[in-house]
Amino acid sequence: MVSPRVKTLYRYASADRFLKGYKYHRRQIVGAMSAIIIRYPIILVNLKTYEEAMGQRAIEFAKIAERVYEKTGITVAVAPQAVDLQAVAESSEAPVFAQHVDPVKPGKGTGHILPEAMAEAGCEGTLISHSERQLPLEVIEATIKRAREADLYTVVCVDTVEKARRVAAFQPDAVAIEPPELIGSGIPVSKAQPDIVRGAVGAVKGVNSKVKVLCGAGITDGEDVTAALELGAEGILVASGVVKARDPYAALLDLARAMQRWKPPVVDVVG
Ligand code: G3P
Repeated sequence: MVSPRVKTLYRYASADRFLKGYKYHRRQIVGAMSAIIIRYPIILVNLKTYEEAMGQRAIEFAKIAERVYEKTGITVAVAPQAVDLQAVAESSEAPVFAQHVDPVKPGKGTGHILPEAMAEAGCEGTLISHSERQLPLEVIEATIKRAREADLYTVVCVDTVEKARRVAAFQPDAVAIEPPELIGSGIPVSKAQPDIVRGAVGAVKGVNSKVKVLCGAGITDGEDVTAALELGAEGILVASGVVKARDPYAALLDLARAMQRWKPPVVDVVG
């Protein structure tokens, strides 16, 4: 038996994970399977604890993400609150991420969030050490390990280039650079602090070229996205620019369209 919908993460250039994610022993199938293709660049919408994005409204944001994916082919994942996660995962094709998990093992862990429980609830990945839920480095390392054991995709948030370098050594799937002072400000990191994005890309790729780099904080429109991609980011983390938008669908579509239009620079290889 396999769970109602098997969301299969097929990550660009990582077939083994696709096979790994396709472990029947943990999932139960009832009815048709469905598969999701995840390619970069990616948009990750963090619903935080915004009232506008809890309960039924969290489901509506996931359906908006799915509509934008269908219109643009750009992968849009959502990170609802833990209590909403299963309902969101069961109501849309959008990949669902946890906002936080704990590096605990099954057993006596009252009040902690078990990675396997999130995976079983339909979660594909997790944010780790978001600026609003920061963790010490050794806990970040332990959480990446536990999340990977539960087959969750890991996106570790950092606030400095040096931290990006340190975290990349723990081999997460992605590192997201977010200067805390710009979060929720509407002032885009890609324009206000381009050096921190460029620096994080260089630092992470210098440690491990497989680790993806996202950026976030203050991103609200397509121009902010284009600027981020030109700095080498492979995706964005966004919250208020979508959750608090008068028309969240239009706001998200504008971000995705910018990714759709963007063409990586052609590198001239001489000799
Ligand atoms: O995790 C994303 C977030 O911290 C960015 O927030 O509201 O500036 O898009 P916001």
